[in-house]
Amino acid sequence: MTDAQTADRYGVMGYPIKHSRSPVIHRLFAIQTKQNMQYEMLQVAAGKLEQAVDQFMRTGGRGLNVTMPHKQDAQSLCDVLSDRARTAGAINTLTFHDREVHGDNTDGIGLLRDLAINLNIELKGSRILILGAGGATRGITGPLLEVQPSHLLIANRTESRAEEIAEAFEEDGPVEACGFDAPEVDQPFDLVINATSAGFNGETPPYPAGCIGSDTLAYDLSYGLKNTPFADWASAQGAARSVMGWGMLVEQAAESFTIWRGVRPDTAPVLARMKVNAS
Ligand code: ATR
Repeated sequence: MTDAQTADRYGVMGYPIKHSRSPVIHRLFAIQTKQNMQYEMLQVAAGKLEQAVDQFMRTGGRGLNVTMPHKQDAQSLCDVLSDRARTAGAINTLTFHDREVHGDNTDGIGLLRDLAINLNIELKGSRILILGAGGATRGITGPLLEVQPSHLLIANRTESRAEEIAEAFEEDGPVEACGFDAPEVDQPFDLVINATSAGFNGETPPYPAGCIGSDTLAYDLSYGLKNTPFADWASAQGAARSVMGWGMLVEQAAESFTIWRGVRPDTAPVLARMKVNAS
C-alpha cells in the first residue's frame, strides 16, 4: 500500500505527457511487488528539463523517466552514464544517489525482452530491417546487434541519418543503411521494425512492400488504442504477425523499476491489462 506521507517519489517528465501510460504501469508494478512508492506525471517543456529535475531531486524525488523531447538533453545532467545509455546517446531513466544523477537507457533491453520472451522470437541469425533513423533507432541498434542478426538494415527518408547510425555501430555487427527509394526487395526480412514517427500523421514509411513476407514479424514501436497505420499496412502485406509496442513499453518500465527498487516485477499480467484496455 502506498502511504502518501512516506512513499518514495518517482515520475516521468516529457511534453506532451498527458497520454503517458507509465503512471499506470508503475502503479501496477508497485502494488504487485508491495513497494511504498508513488509515480507522478510531470509536464516539462523543451529546455526546462534541468530546472525541473533539480527541483524534483531537491524535494526528495528518487528517480525519473524522461521521454520526448528530453531523451538526448538528459545526458548532460548525468554524473554517471551506463554503457547502454552512452551507446544509445539517449537517456530514459534517471536515478538519484544523494546528489549524484545516474543515467540509463532501458528502451533497447525492453524491446529485446518483448521480442525474445513475450513474442518468442529467435533473433540470432535473423534479417532485420529498421525503418527510421531518429532517437528511437539509435536506442535499439546496439542491443539488436548484440543478439547477432545476420543482417541489420536501417532505411530512412533522409538517407544520411541512416548512414550516420550505421557508421556509429559498424564495429558492433553487420549493419547497413539505405533510403526509402530502395530497389524492389527480393527477400523478405524476418523482423521489420517501424521506428519512424510517420504514423502520427496517419502515414506508413514508403519502403517497398517486398520487405514483408509470410514469415515476417512486423513491429511498430508506436502503440495506440487503434492499430497504427504501419500495423495495418504490414497485416495487409501478409506479415505472419503485426504487433505494436505495448510489450516494449511495459518491459522498459520494468527495467527502470528494477533499477530503482531492486526487485523485478512480473510483466505478463501488466501487459495483458494494458492490451485489454487498448483493444
Ligand atoms: P524519435 O526520437 O522518436 O526517433 P525523431 O528523432 O524525430 O524521433 O525521428 C523521427 C523519424 O521518423 C525519422 O527517421 C524521420 O525521418 P527523417 O530523418 O527523414 O526526418 C521519420 N519520419 C517522420 N515522419 C515521416 C514520414 N511521414 N515518412 C517517413 N519517415 C518519417
